Amino acid sequence: MKGVILAAGKGTRLFPVTYHIPKPLLPLANRLTLEYAFDRLREIDVRDICIVVGENEPQLKSALGDGARFGLRLSYVRQTHPQGLAHAVGFAKEFVGDEPFVLYLGDAIYSKGFQDHARRFLESGCANLNLVQWVEDPRRYGVANLDGERIVKLVEKPKHPESNWAMAGLYFFGPQIWDVLPDLQPSARGEYEITDTIQLLIDRGHTVLAGIYDGVWYDSGTLDSFLEVSRFLINNGRIIDPTARVKAEVGDAVVIGAGATVECTFIEDSVILPGARIKIEGEIQHCLLGGTVFSEDPLKDAILYEG
Ligand code: G1P
Repeated sequence: MKGVILAAGKGTRLFPVTYHIPKPLLPLANRLTLEYAFDRLREIDVRDICIVVGENEPQLKSALGDGARFGLRLSYVRQTHPQGLAHAVGFAKEFVGDEPFVLYLGDAIYSKGFQDHARRFLESGCANLNLVQWVEDPRRYGVANLDGERIVKLVEKPKHPESNWAMAGLYFFGPQIWDVLPDLQPSARGEYEITDTIQLLIDRGHTVLAGIYDGVWYDSGTLDSFLEVSRFLINNGRIIDPTARVKAEVGDAVVIGAGATVECTFIEDSVILPGARIKIEGEIQHCLLGGTVFSEDPLKDAILYEG
């Protein structure tokens, strides 16, 4: 099985940090965000991976290279303009060929693997299997109606969800997807949706299965979720790179990257990027900071990168 990772997004919800470091390369517990995806894909024996990139192509290529140092073979295709997840997948068609593949959304982090789901997908011979998770409020997700083990209907971000099964951002596909993609129409938000692609597979009589994911699943795209997943990965503790210089009282859930200097009264629940120079007169709470940041006021809930 091959792998396709979608990583073309601009990461707008983490501006201005993502002007300087593309979201897939942001450090989480001092590893690149995408390294967590690589771990999960390696676990299911996926080593041939195509990364769909956008304007971040040069930075991703230079940081990840051919993948050898991760025990993988990485290749890259460029999504010419952002038009949705299904549009992005289309660029990987030549790479995938007739093989089954797993589609991974680049900012997703999963606490445990999906070996059972991969095995079930391959053994069943179905056209598509998707991870789903029961969530309290599914309105910001694709929402699935299940009938036994099958998905029978899918709606993207419904105002009035008919179920609590959220699409959890991991999809296994057979080659049937390439027949339906050309017939896809843009959604109300003007995007080619992966959800609509799967609905088309259902409409054409293909077997689409749900795999219930019972681990913890995060997407790291907003400040809150980025810090939440960071906190989870460091177990609420702290990682301070030995080359960082810190003049502060350090509380819980703090990551300070290599070569950073941090001066403040107290810091908690924050990530300081490698090489940052931070000087704050007061406390730093719930922040993602990089570059040079000087302030005479305390910082709370901030994403800053100057210089
Ligand atoms: C995408 C999919 C959605 C899925 C979600 C999982 O939404 O369109 O169906 O539930 O990922 O994270 P996005 O968050 O890209 O809008």
